[in-house]
Amino acid sequence: MREKTCLYKYEQYGNIRIAWTDDLDGGGSSFGRSFVPVTRHLFGKTGRAFEFCAGPGFIGFYLLAEGLCDSLCLSDVNPEAVALMEHTVAINGLGSRVSVYLSDGLKTIPESEKWDLVVSNPPHFFSESHQDHLNDLRRVDSQWHVHEEFYANVGRHLNKGASILFQENYMGSSEDTFAEMLRKNGLVLVDSLMMDTDRHRDNNKFFMWVKERGDGLWWRSDETRTVRVVASEILSGGRMSLQPGKYQVILVNDTDDEWGIFMTKAWDEKGAGRMEGPVQIRISGIGPGTSGKGSPVLLNPGRYFITHDRLTGCFATLDIEAG
Ligand SMILES: C[S@@+](CC[C@H](N)C(=O)[O-])C[C@H]1O[C@@H](n2cnc3c(N)ncnc32)[C@H](O)[C@@H]1O
Repeated sequence: MREKTCLYKYEQYGNIRIAWTDDLDGGGSSFGRSFVPVTRHLFGKTGRAFEFCAGPGFIGFYLLAEGLCDSLCLSDVNPEAVALMEHTVAINGLGSRVSVYLSDGLKTIPESEKWDLVVSNPPHFFSESHQDHLNDLRRVDSQWHVHEEFYANVGRHLNKGASILFQENYMGSSEDTFAEMLRKNGLVLVDSLMMDTDRHRDNNKFFMWVKERGDGLWWRSDETRTVRVVASEILSGGRMSLQPGKYQVILVNDTDDEWGIFMTKAWDEKGAGRMEGPVQIRISGIGPGTSGKGSPVLLNPGRYFITHDRLTGCFATLDIEAG
């Protein structure tokens, strides 16, 4: 152990000194940092968080250092990653707040472990061959078995209202890749989010926010409602408040100009760092006195900007209130 720890690098994050090595870092030290603003934005402070496929545990330790969870559970299939995380726990005196498990998937996680939030940056790339997975645990998920087994078994560890937030990569998968795994295990994709950060302009990563179906969730309704966005009201900075749900947005162009609208979900109150994903609506090229329909879109609670097609800046906001 002494020889190994000599090879460790250290990152000081808040009041936690995180041990890591290049060959166990799966991106947590760079794009994994985006879990902090996303978690803060979506959930605020949670109780017990679990980082699945944790490697050095960057994401979990970031959340703990930021005060975004009270306590932490970490696991990985690689004994070297587990040793690394145990070392971080020891040198920071975190033994009473952090549990670390060596586990293939969730197989050896005790039944008593219950979580309010699960985060993960799991292996992102499919391969037919299990040997490929064993050769590259960080990148390869053969036949998606790591994801399959996780989604099939996570339910028994979730507290009521718990959320799962995975960072995936459009180079290796999309929301559709995991849709059937979620459906057959009683889970639902609440939202899919992309973000730009100042540190890393890497547009391949996306977050999947998943919850248990029927856990007091408003978005079970399949009914599509209609919202009419009037062009002149957008120009004058109008506001609308709606209940969460599935909407078809219709642009009514009552101006003398050719119009389009473009909606993005607001990232924060100032509109900085907008998240773009399936919530995006574009209706373009509507002539004076006409109206056009965007395709139905699921709007989760939050604030959306409505922007004129050919201009920049926010003209109106659409607030979707929690149901
Ligand atoms: C992309 S890396 C992420 C590591 C770390 N979370 C980060 O962000 O830097 C994927 C991690 O999944 C782990 N892993 C792969 N297969 C696993 C399995 N069946 N069960 C648990 N962990 C697994 C690997 O050992 C690796 O640490």
